[in-house]
Amino acid sequence: MAARKRASAPAAAPANAAATVSNGDKAEQKPKEASDPPIAPPKLGFILKLSLFLLAPYFYFFFYHYEIQQELQKSILINAALSLAGFFLTVKMIPVASRYVLRRNLFGYDINKKGTRQGTVKVPESLGIVVGIVFLVLAIIFQYFNFTADSIWLVEYNAALACICFMTLLGFVDDVLDIPWRVKLLLPSFAALPLLMAYAGHTTILIPKPLTQYVGVDVLDLGWIYKLYMGLLVVFCTNSINIHAGINGLEVGQTVVIASAILVHNIMQIGASIDPEKQQAHAFSIYLVQPLLATSLALLSYNWYPSSVFVGDTYTYFAGMTMAVVGILGHFSETLLIFFLPQVINFLLSLPQLAGIVHCPRHRLPRFDPDTGLLTGTKDGTVVNVYLRFFGKKKENSLCIHLLLVQAVGCGFCFFLRYLLTGWYK
Ligand code: UD1
Ligand code: MG
Repeated sequence: MAARKRASAPAAAPANAAATVSNGDKAEQKPKEASDPPIAPPKLGFILKLSLFLLAPYFYFFFYHYEIQQELQKSILINAALSLAGFFLTVKMIPVASRYVLRRNLFGYDINKKGTRQGTVKVPESLGIVVGIVFLVLAIIFQYFNFTADSIWLVEYNAALACICFMTLLGFVDDVLDIPWRVKLLLPSFAALPLLMAYAGHTTILIPKPLTQYVGVDVLDLGWIYKLYMGLLVVFCTNSINIHAGINGLEVGQTVVIASAILVHNIMQIGASIDPEKQQAHAFSIYLVQPLLATSLALLSYNWYPSSVFVGDTYTYFAGMTMAVVGILGHFSETLLIFFLPQVINFLLSLPQLAGIVHCPRHRLPRFDPDTGLLTGTKDGTVVNVYLRFFGKKKENSLCIHLLLVQAVGCGFCFFLRYLLTGWYK
């Protein structure tokens, strides 16, 4: 990605030269650093309001509605405290990392500001790397505080972390080397290998009750097909987050909404179940999603409109992989796919371009009018464009809020569907 920008950016050549000099000579570094103004401060007030709105149901279920077993409650609260520390650490680290990535010419231009002064600002790229690193540190430290004497848990937990770490690395490689997208579609399947190889859990699925008379059994062992399904889920989750993108705040915003829904789902399952194994599976998912949510909110405080940093494929792949592994190991991949409804629709709309049947430009973004500040939907097959064509021109920030509300309504629909189908479907 950086290489692409170096080639296209008019100001890139002198900046690059200065960066090269700075490697060897600290004195010469000063003019270069001075030319990069610090990024705008985080929008913490907005993040606080958003967090309260998204987490209110989770807090309600956790503290009030259900009586969660004390040991489990303690682990979840310790994890939450670590996540909160991770939030502040990420907020602190992003401006520092921004200076470093700019120095290495890892930046992008905000395409939806083209023609305005903001469109000429170098926006630091790949800040997902900060989120990925802080997340991994939290998740590794947390093992010390989890009180289950279950080694299978640790094997799967560490395999999940290996996948997330591998994915973050490949995402960063993509950001730096700008891998052709048909190749990068496959990167997540390599990153999923640690989990696919270590997975020792069941490979069975419950047949939906209305179908059992046709299939003849209640439970079906899928064997290796189950692992294939896990691999495909990973490829879908990572890429679908990455291609539902391109307007300020959307990549992180969708993750934040889905992660909040996953938390609510997990706590409802823990509260309503008496099976310790099931409770453990959902607690496992909470232990990874709380840090994901906290660090993502920190990133969103800089990435929200007008973005002072871009998240990069480092972040989209990292977030997609984290949600895929918690869905797999928490055994709620069907629910996860319904939380991903806008991403599923975006993927279906994208298929003709992804398959090469229709021309696929490098960026499938709406058209920006610098005079009015409005975005107009183009013919490219994405939810962003279809939404604009259907509901009319919009400002970038209001479009992002609309799309995140659609995402939240989709998650609400999923809870309603689960409520309707409980007992009848499975
Ligand atoms: C995916 C999409 C592409 C979309 C891009 C935007 C497919 C197949 N690919 O590509 O259509 O244009 O994401 O993220 O659907 N950018 C902005 N504003 C933002 C976010 C990004 O202008 O709010 C631009 C910046 O120039 C940034 C670049 O997009 O540098 C990042 O693009 P990248 O993530 O590399 O694109 P892809 O993931 O390959
Ligand atoms: Mg991307």
